[in-house]
Amino acid sequence: MSEFVEKAAAIAREAGAVINTLAKRGIGYELKGVHDLVTEADRASEHLIIERLEQHFPTHAIVAEESGAHEGSSEYRWYVDPLDGTTNFAHSFPVYNVTLALERAGEVIAGVVYDPTRDEMFQAEKGSGAFLNGQRIHVTKTAKLEDSLCATGFPSRKRHQNINIHFYYQFAMQTHGVRRAGAAAIDLAYVAAGRLDFYWEFSLNPWDMAAGTLLVREAGGQCSDMRGKPFDLRGNDVLADNGLLHAPVVQMIDRIYRGDYAVPMPQMPTEP
Ligand code: IPD
Ligand code: CA
Ligand code: CA
Repeated sequence: MSEFVEKAAAIAREAGAVINTLAKRGIGYELKGVHDLVTEADRASEHLIIERLEQHFPTHAIVAEESGAHEGSSEYRWYVDPLDGTTNFAHSFPVYNVTLALERAGEVIAGVVYDPTRDEMFQAEKGSGAFLNGQRIHVTKTAKLEDSLCATGFPSRKRHQNINIHFYYQFAMQTHGVRRAGAAAIDLAYVAAGRLDFYWEFSLNPWDMAAGTLLVREAGGQCSDMRGKPFDLRGNDVLADNGLLHAPVVQMIDRIYRGDYAVPMPQMPTEP
């Protein structure tokens, strides 16, 4: 692994330790929007990450969730989510992570997802494979939708306008289940590690997806948008799968977009 991945992993581990310390101390939160939470841990983690990135790579640009864009003078750009899964963190639900990814001339070339609650470091570099705590990881070989376990998420912002409930229901009825754990980068890392067969989500940001989509590809999987078109980091949605399930999942998504439900949506009883 290159210096980039090794440095990113060390920084994510350090940021994870800050998050763990703050978690022990007790967690308060503020609202960025109606349901969009931010905590002291998001800020402390981001502060540390930016300080370290600027020390190691002074010419690189940075795009970080809490502080936005930091200009650079080279073709390199880091995407930083200092705490992915803030709502979980604020409620002491132990599914969250620190994720960093490096883009060179528009292509993601390195990425890490660190889960400080389980001490799990997922890391990938373009062309070198994906790893969990130093061991190579691979996507599953599940070929049938009805044998699969999948995941999705719901954005905190504009949740009321989100169409995902239709997708959630259809896939919940036609797979072993849909998990909704609340941390996009972990969902992607779990597809890479073979803990999930596929994952989809609408309304994400580049820092949620950059490292995780590289992990999935380097673990032998596939990433696209929800229509099956090439994945775009600046697009809002992602479908990540083990490759074998790509066609059946895209086909199912297409049916759902057309309102052609394989399983009829349940009706509310007219009387209690
Ligand atoms: C959120 C999480 C969540 C996803 C949201 C993201 P944050 O990131 O990844 O799983 O459903 O859309 O915004 O705000 O906790 O960093
Ligand atoms: Ca996030
Ligand atoms: Ca975040």
